[in-house]
Amino acid sequence: MSRLRSAVQKGKRAALESTEVIKSSNKKKSKPGIKEEEPSETEPSSYHFFHDPNEISLFRSQLLQWYDQNKRELPWRTLAVTESDVNIRTYGVWVSEIMLQQTQVATVIDYYNRWMKRWPTVEKLAAATLEEVNQMWAGLGYYSRGRRLHEGAQKVVSELNKQMPKTTAGLLKQLPGVGRYTAGAISSIALGQVTGAVDGNVIRVLSRIRAIGADSTSPAVADALWKVADALVDPERPGDFNQAMMELGARVCTPKSPLCSQCPVQTHCHAFRKVSIKQETDSKRLLSKLASKLNTSVPDIENCLGAGSCGLCLSEEWDPQLGVQNYPRKPVKKAPRVEQTLTCIVERQRAGKEMEYLLTQRPSKGLLAGMWELPSMLLEADISVNKYKGLICDMMQKLLEKSLDANSVQFVGEVVHIFSHIHQTYIVFSVHVSDWSEREQEQKTCWLTKSALREAAVSTGVKKIMKLYESSSKVDKKEKKRKASPEKRSNKIKKSKDAATNEGPKQLCISKFFSTAKTTAKNC
Ligand code: ADE
Repeated sequence: MSRLRSAVQKGKRAALESTEVIKSSNKKKSKPGIKEEEPSETEPSSYHFFHDPNEISLFRSQLLQWYDQNKRELPWRTLAVTESDVNIRTYGVWVSEIMLQQTQVATVIDYYNRWMKRWPTVEKLAAATLEEVNQMWAGLGYYSRGRRLHEGAQKVVSELNKQMPKTTAGLLKQLPGVGRYTAGAISSIALGQVTGAVDGNVIRVLSRIRAIGADSTSPAVADALWKVADALVDPERPGDFNQAMMELGARVCTPKSPLCSQCPVQTHCHAFRKVSIKQETDSKRLLSKLASKLNTSVPDIENCLGAGSCGLCLSEEWDPQLGVQNYPRKPVKKAPRVEQTLTCIVERQRAGKEMEYLLTQRPSKGLLAGMWELPSMLLEADISVNKYKGLICDMMQKLLEKSLDANSVQFVGEVVHIFSHIHQTYIVFSVHVSDWSEREQEQKTCWLTKSALREAAVSTGVKKIMKLYESSSKVDKKEKKRKASPEKRSNKIKKSKDAATNEGPKQLCISKFFSTAKTTAKNC
């Protein structure tokens, strides 16, 4: 088996950001007469690439014409064409590309505008604190991205004389969090460098255009996709070309229900051609009573001649129901790790002050590094639920030097939060403390009011937990009222149940293990 093929089949994880190149050693012998179409000793079948310069020119002009007429006006696109200072332009496009790495365009726009207003230059960002950066990033997810932007800005200021790198290689080498795609996107959009940029949308477009159906996370397939992208990119307008490819993937060549009839480069698309030929032969079959005698196979020129041994072809059977959506083949996703975290909302009320909540700071490395969260501990699998309140008391003893009565700890509910690779369930309790110690300790802590908490650099998980707590407190208050006026009893119970279940965060029936005063817990 060739190394190319085996790399594909093993489905080894290789980010498209990687620059690794795996050389094929396909040993299949060429058939005489059709040499150019055959996979060579070192290359996968030419069917998956572009060769004709005229076709490449036509592809570029059709795509760019469509882009000029259909592109969305986005703030980073405006900046890329209106900003004359190359340092600011590169910085602005860098920020946009990092924000867009795992987040939809519609969500990014508002974050981007606020960010650029607050830190319009790399020097301004470098002078900010990580705390401020995390606060600005709150809700965008994948928080290490913001941290890396900040680190990168500090590096540019302290090590690169305040000058953003000016080449693809420089961006790749100097800036943390910038891989092959991001470097290509920034350098083509902000600096006019002629390089491809292969992100998720572009993978889909190219896989369909060149019928590349093997696992796109394998190094060999990633390498092929980059080759196609680098060959296609328009040297006159590389940034627009790359953004046009992304735009096509986002708006026309979509994962589900692709709009092939509106595609400006439909005539270059192998996947579309395969579907059309199939439809044509099927309808001929229907029209002709001699169906079984018709040759319904697809002509060779429409297929990869290395099929069967080609490492870029579909590794599964073509599914006629899927049409062009046969491409790209979805990589098999690893199941997320399942974790449970015990969390406690600790509130205090000082005389004449608003209610405040205790927060602790996460370690400076790893998931949600440096962010503030409610006091929490990861649960080991074999801990019994009967021990939860005791564990919370231990945690409070460490944080506040305070011995709590386990009966004062109340179960609130459960919140499920999905990170990209972790299925996290927060098991939430609350406790009210009246005296506490404010000593220096290993783990940083602070007390915040509800409104300050809303503004703080806390993760979406913490926001969900506080929302659950607020809704359960409301239900709790209603329940107290209900007890005071028994005549309205049945009606009120119904309403409090609705409040607990409609708020979003899920309440599971763990409550049965605890005797709590919370109505939400009793209701589930
Ligand atoms: N996704 C990544 N970069 C993008 C860009 N410049 N425009 C739109 N979507 C994108």
